[in-house]
Parts: sequence; structure tokens; C-alpha cells
Amino acid sequence: MPEASGPVSETYSHIDWRGDALRLLDQRELPAAEVYVTCTTALQVAAAIRDMVVRGAPAIGITAAYGAVLAARCALQAHGRIDLRLVAGDMRELADARPTAVNLSWALAYMAQRIGSGGADELLVSLEQQARDIQARDIAANRRMGELGAALLASGAVITHCNTGTLATGGYGTALGVIRTGVAQGKIGRVLASETRPWLQGARLTAWELSREEIDVTLICEGSVGSAMCTFHPGWAIVGADRIAANGDAVNKIGTYNLAVLARQHGARTMVVAPTSSIDAHAPSGAHIEIEMRAADEVLAAAGYRQVPAHVQVWNPVFDVTPASLIDAIVTERGVASPPSAAAIAELLD
Ligand code: MRU
Repeated sequence: MPEASGPVSETYSHIDWRGDALRLLDQRELPAAEVYVTCTTALQVAAAIRDMVVRGAPAIGITAAYGAVLAARCALQAHGRIDLRLVAGDMRELADARPTAVNLSWALAYMAQRIGSGGADELLVSLEQQARDIQARDIAANRRMGELGAALLASGAVITHCNTGTLATGGYGTALGVIRTGVAQGKIGRVLASETRPWLQGARLTAWELSREEIDVTLICEGSVGSAMCTFHPGWAIVGADRIAANGDAVNKIGTYNLAVLARQHGARTMVVAPTSSIDAHAPSGAHIEIEMRAADEVLAAAGYRQVPAHVQVWNPVFDVTPASLIDAIVTERGVASPPSAAAIAELLD
């Protein structure tokens, strides 16, 4: 149930484990209000992921890990024990909540490895700790990627897409982590953020995160990317990824491919920033990755107001594939693949 509405406070905790419940900052309500959703079951967590209360690949993985803890808690309460069979239905609901972000299945597989050994109470404690570890390691990975990515920047403008900041991760951010570090190092003169139709993650979330830290941000419509490149000459397009294939193709928010094509046309480089948990070694290329399709309503209405005549058809894929050939660097916490190739990706995973 949603609770506590009001202006967003100075500090916030967007994925907050409370011992017997998971409290999530409802990202659908930002930047207008701070509303939290409290989940006490894995099915509520799955619904929160599906409905975009929480979004962004690493944040989805961390949230699902806490969902697995709630599944184990419920099994213990109902059956006096925890085993994989008892949580299988909940784990499937969590895994199916969104199909593209591989961090989701990665986190659930990591949690499932632990389920089934040891006494139930100790197991619950260790599952909680494991979920906390996933979150802590994600923040540490983001800090490291911030340094590695910022080291590639010369001074000038950069452009980003969607939201890849604290809200999309355990904290600090992937692409936005590189931008934070680059700004702190005085390398970035201007941050261009595209609004990111239809959920407006760029306008609502990236602009919100950066302006809270008094980092200047220039918001543009996605249709303005080409013109913005002619005007501001960004050196890098810096984006995240929901899944990276073994050959270096990157699946990210719809519009990333357009951005990378325009970057190549204008002599800007494209940097994909993602932890190794976003790499899917089983997907040979982007063509093997499922692209999530979402409801037509998301495109037909803006701010709850329908903008389009009746009976208009909608095609709403929410991610696209940027081929490795358009990517200049993939930055992970284990190092940089530049240019990305199957061999360079395999080396990162080794
Ligand atoms: O649909 P969303 O908002 O979950 O999409 C998010 C993105 O595409 C991000 O760029 C990606 O998950 C990387 S977040 C660090």
C-alpha cells in the first residue's frame, strides 16, 4: 500500500530493507512527491517491479533479492522450513516481472544457490545478509566504474539517456556515476539529458538526481539529440545497459540505439557503463535478448491524459539493441572493453 506523501526529503532510501518488509520509494511519483510502497510478500515485490515502482536493471536485481528473502520468510512461517520447492512459485513470479534486465535472474540465481542448506532461522539471516551484500557490492562497483569511465573523458559536454543513477542501482549509479565522477573532476562542462519517452526517466529522475546535487543539467527531447550534437558537440554519449550480449551488443532503454548512431555521425563516442552482472554470456548477440513490450496506454496518455485519437495502434518496445560496432567502450567494475568484442567481454568475465 502507498504511504507518506509529501515533498522529497534531503536524504532518501529508495530500497530499504526493514527486517520483515521491503520499503520502496515509488519512482512513478517523483519528482512531485515522496511516496513509499511497503512489500511484505514476494508477490508484492514482483508487482512493484512490473509496475515500475522500482526500475533500472541493478535496482531491479537488488529488489528481487529482497523479494527472495520475503519468499523464504513466508515459507518458514507457513511450513516451518525453507526449501527451494516451497519458494519456487514466488521465485518464478519475481523472475517474470520484467524480462530484459538480466540482473533480475542473476540476483535470483545467486539467492537460490543458498536456499536449502542449514537450519531455517540461520538460513533466513544469511539470505538477508546476501541481499544486503548484493546491494553493497553494486554501490562499490558503481564507484569503481565511475573512476574507470571518468578516466576516458576529455573536458566538454556529455549526453545521457534514461536514468542510470542512484534510483536505478544500489546507489551512485552506472552511467550517471561516471557523470558524477567526471563533474567532480571538473571534466564535464554540460550534462545533456534526454527526456526518455514514455516514462520520462530522464526528465523526472535524472534531472531530479542531478539538480539535488546542484549539477547543471540541460534537458532535451529525444527528437533534439541530433541538433544538440550540432550545438553542444558532446564528446561522449554515456548510457547504461539492461543486458550486454557476449559479443558486446548492448540492450538499453529505447532510444539508445538512435543516440549511438547520431553520436557516430557527429564524431562523439559511446560509452556503455554496466556491472558484470549485466553481462549475459549465454546470449551470443543482441538478437538473442528478449525485448520487453509494454502496454499501449503508456504511449497514448501523458500525465494520465489521453493525447491520441481512438483506435490508433501502438508499438511500444521499451528497450533497443545497440550493436557493439557502435560502442566505443564498455565500462564494468572489472575493467574496460574498448573496443568491445567477444574476446574483450570474455576477458572481463574470466
Ligand atoms: O525501463 P527502465 O526504467 O527500467 O529502464 C532503465 C534503463 O534502461 C537503464 O538505462 C538500465 O536499466 C541501466 S540502469 C543503471
